[in-house]
Amino acid sequence: MANELGKIAVFGAGAIGCYVGGTLSAAGYTVLFFGRPRLQKVIEAHGLKLTDWRGRDQQLAPADVEYLTTYERMAEASLILVTVKSRHTEDAAKEIAKHATPGALVVSFQNGVRNADVLRKHLHSFQVLGGMVPFNVLTKEGGHFHCGTEGHLIVEKAPSFEEVWGSAFEDAALPVEHHPDIKGILWSKLMLNLNNATNALSGVPVRDQLLHPLYRKCMALCVSEALATTKAAGIRMRRAGKVMPWLIPVVLRLPNWLFMFVASKMIQIDAEARSSMWEDLHLRRPTEIDFLNGEIVTLAEQQGLKAPCNQKIVELVHEAEAKKEGSPRVAPEVLYKALLDART
Ligand SMILES: NC(=O)c1ccc[n+]([C@@H]2O[C@H](COP(=O)([O-])OP(=O)(O)OC[C@H]3O[C@@H](n4cnc5c(N)ncnc54)[C@H](OP(=O)(O)O)[C@@H]3O)[C@@H](O)[C@H]2O)c1
Repeated sequence: MANELGKIAVFGAGAIGCYVGGTLSAAGYTVLFFGRPRLQKVIEAHGLKLTDWRGRDQQLAPADVEYLTTYERMAEASLILVTVKSRHTEDAAKEIAKHATPGALVVSFQNGVRNADVLRKHLHSFQVLGGMVPFNVLTKEGGHFHCGTEGHLIVEKAPSFEEVWGSAFEDAALPVEHHPDIKGILWSKLMLNLNNATNALSGVPVRDQLLHPLYRKCMALCVSEALATTKAAGIRMRRAGKVMPWLIPVVLRLPNWLFMFVASKMIQIDAEARSSMWEDLHLRRPTEIDFLNGEIVTLAEQQGLKAPCNQKIVELVHEAEAKKEGSPRVAPEVLYKALLDART
């Protein structure tokens, strides 16, 4: 059955791409990973190791992982999973248009609300579906990718994916929910992703950061602005999983003892998990900030509103990118004061 479905390409095989593609490969599907020479070298030496917080522990030998740095063999794929950061989506779309076989199904597994639209703009002969990745994947040493949080993948409802590929993801123990309003899901996910920057600026693991009331209040300020902005723009958010976006600021402002009780699921996170934006700063790479908090700033401007806390966060992340010194490790009281000052 696995071979009858054809090959799966992962475009931008980093944390999410190696984890999702690796689990599909471990389940017997043929996966072609397209990525950078840096990771190709690591995987040629070590293969892929995939673990998760529930005890998944899979190892693929180097010979079992086809990690490619040129795109010619993308023509072999019937399903293409796009897992680059949002700032690389346009490049990815152009390469897919050039090398893939028209008619292939393309799924965006990225944060941000516009990636599927960007892909569609360049991929007229392909079916493009939006998707959402709820869990966190950490890149560790030696080709090891660790999923540190729970959650199901969500893909835009379409028979071409649901009926053909749904069982492949189940075989890989990555069940997919198929949703008719993926945009609503992605806007709702964006509310949670507004914390990526706070986490990157804090320099501490997500769990430690969420257990600090002032870091939580920073996130609450950003999410409150985002909720007001999306409401003004008439954007309807869909609840994904257990989190109700409109309640996020209320829950974040609870005192620690109550927060730990009410948000017990939210803090059931691997002690090492960090946002991929922290990883970008750590590796001295530009981040996705313009597609996350920046999205709220732009939307606010379009609505004649202001989003000063998100604006401040965007500035602080750009400063950190320019310094190339990793996370600036901003203390909670300093960050919270900076956001309050930005509002006055
Ligand atoms: N990591 C997580 O826990 C997580 C969780 C949920 C959602 N997400 C979202 O999933 C998406 C992927 O995140 P990630 O953490 O997996 O990113 P990542 O680790 O940076 O992986 C993306 C990879 O794609 C490579 N790439 C970029 N352009 C390419 C091109 N033209 N050809 C080949 N390779 C290319 C990147 O190389 P360079 O680094 O050299 O650019 C990088 O190795 C993002 O939208 C992110 O927000 C991530």
